Amino acid sequence: MRVDAVTLFPGMIDTPLSESIVGRARAEGYLELGFVNPRDFTEDRHRTVDDKPYGGGTGMLMMAEPVYRAVKKVRKKGSFVILLTPKGRKFDQAAALELAKKKHLIFICGHYEGIDERIVPLADMELSIGDYVLTGGEPAAVAVIDAVTRLIPGVLKKSDATVNETFTGGLLEAPHYTRPAVWRGKKVPEALLSGNHKLIAEWRASMAAKLTGAARPDLSGARPVKKAARKAAK
Ligand code: ADE
Repeated sequence: MRVDAVTLFPGMIDTPLSESIVGRARAEGYLELGFVNPRDFTEDRHRTVDDKPYGGGTGMLMMAEPVYRAVKKVRKKGSFVILLTPKGRKFDQAAALELAKKKHLIFICGHYEGIDERIVPLADMELSIGDYVLTGGEPAAVAVIDAVTRLIPGVLKKSDATVNETFTGGLLEAPHYTRPAVWRGKKVPEALLSGNHKLIAEWRASMAAKLTGAARPDLSGARPVKKAARKAAK
């Protein structure tokens, strides 16, 4: 997959996505990540990318033209353009699965107070990573690119690693344990030590259902639970 980020601060995306699994996915060619800086598409001596908002107000806004030109530079037939903004659709695993099917994603990262509204029609989707305000779209782009990259076939070496995981199927995952079997007096649940695959699968399914109902009753796979059980899980 090809991903381009339109950003004034490429290092905010490039650096975190150079480590660990995404770093390896880039090195192995599963993910090609490029950057375009709107500052390179200005024409004045100061390479100005921002200006004061019409009508007054605090902070500066990114101007439309340098962003427009930066997108135009990388946009091809079949590119899917995403504008990162707290006003967008809430990002979730379903959105990650949708985006993982695309060949080319372009992320537009606003900074300062945002971008001139007239840029919005350039985007195929407005996306938010949650109900809070970041300093810019860059940390949001990192989260989205990370979640999408791990879904590209071949990136995770165990093919089923993304099948049974949290949120897939609208459920949280059952808890995991590793050695030692007893740690500071706390035991690993008996079923997981049994070696009985059927029993283990049943235990995991039952724990996933219980946990989801208690902690995230809003998820689609959740079964209704009593208030008391929800409280106990907190
Ligand atoms: N830019 C600033 N805050 C954001 C958020 N929560 N999601 C996406 N982009 C943003």
